[in-house]
Amino acid sequence: SEGSLKKAYQDKFYIGTAMNLEQINGTDKKSVEIIKKQFSSIVAENCMKSMYLQPQEGQFFFKDADKFVEFGEKNKMFIIGHTLIWHSQAPDWFFVDKDGKNVSPEVLKQRMKNHITTIVSRYKRRVKGWDVVNEAILEDGSYRKSKFYEILGEEFIPLAFKYAQEADPNAELYYNDYNEWHPGKVKRVTMLVKDLKSKGIRIDGVGMQAHIGMDTPSIDEYEKAILAYAESGVKVNITELDISALPSPWGTSANIADKVAYDEKMNPYKKGLPKEVQTQWENRYEDFFSLFLKHKDNIRRVTLWGVSDNQSWKNDFPIKGRTDYPLLFDRQFKAKPIVRKLIKLVEES
Ligand code: G3I
Repeated sequence: SEGSLKKAYQDKFYIGTAMNLEQINGTDKKSVEIIKKQFSSIVAENCMKSMYLQPQEGQFFFKDADKFVEFGEKNKMFIIGHTLIWHSQAPDWFFVDKDGKNVSPEVLKQRMKNHITTIVSRYKRRVKGWDVVNEAILEDGSYRKSKFYEILGEEFIPLAFKYAQEADPNAELYYNDYNEWHPGKVKRVTMLVKDLKSKGIRIDGVGMQAHIGMDTPSIDEYEKAILAYAESGVKVNITELDISALPSPWGTSANIADKVAYDEKMNPYKKGLPKEVQTQWENRYEDFFSLFLKHKDNIRRVTLWGVSDNQSWKNDFPIKGRTDYPLLFDRQFKAKPIVRKLIKLVEES
């Protein structure tokens, strides 16, 4: 057998996975078995986002999220809520009045408060940590010009944390983002952490999503970011780890409209991963886990963004129909050799 990641890492940090609806509903039995055996923490990949939890104002839909939390409790897992305030997958009603015009700051505050309070209270003491605000800062350190920002300015972030803290004073509260190693973003997020703390508002962790490529980021720049977040006075969570084996979609001249040319350049491993690429990919996972182990005192959790390759969002990004290999289990739900290697890594550390 491939062994168990959660057992091997139990004295280091939680090892987590995101769960999709088939896993939460239990129809994907193979994944459910893997999750129970391998992971000590879970997060919902989609069903706790605002457009699913409150599709219409005041009409909450809790069925999937309830099941997710029940699964985590039953299996004694550290349950994470993702995500309270995010510009994406937020329903339109949140920001506009009946005439389609932006609501006033007061109305948006009220809607945020109601959303956060209702959800966090429902899962009080059960969900142990919340991604309170997701992806609000850009790579250059400026604020994303989201609807939240447009209507409330920078204030929307401290407000969100305050509402969450009031609803469950025991839950850990996180700021979560991608491209989290870019120096401009690191600088702004650490300023944000200090600013919240100076206002007496609690923030317990920064979530580093860790959607990683084969070449970027370098281990050095990633380590700098971990240290900077830790030094700002919070724990670090690795929240959405996956390592794409495909060429980066950024800065490419491949033309998406020409599917054949695009596939040749951007989707080259439809029939399987060549041995040398697989080796590089495994080395990359080992390098990152070595780094996480080195900083285990600052890292509370390492969560993978899904179980098996066929379920990864990476196959649909930036367009549908790529064949990627970013996760620890293959398309037949078989543990890849990397699982054993990561277990060996911690045993030898
Ligand atoms: O459920 C519907 C289904 O009914 C419909 O037929 C189908 C048609 O496209 O869409 C399904 O919804 C999709 C949903 O995933 C569930 O599969 C949405 O279109 C799709 O947009 C959605 O994508 C999710 C994405 O967030 C949305 O932005 C991915 O699964 C999810 O992995 C991804 O996760 C994000 C994190 O929340 C934040 N950080 C980045 C990360 C990756 O983008």
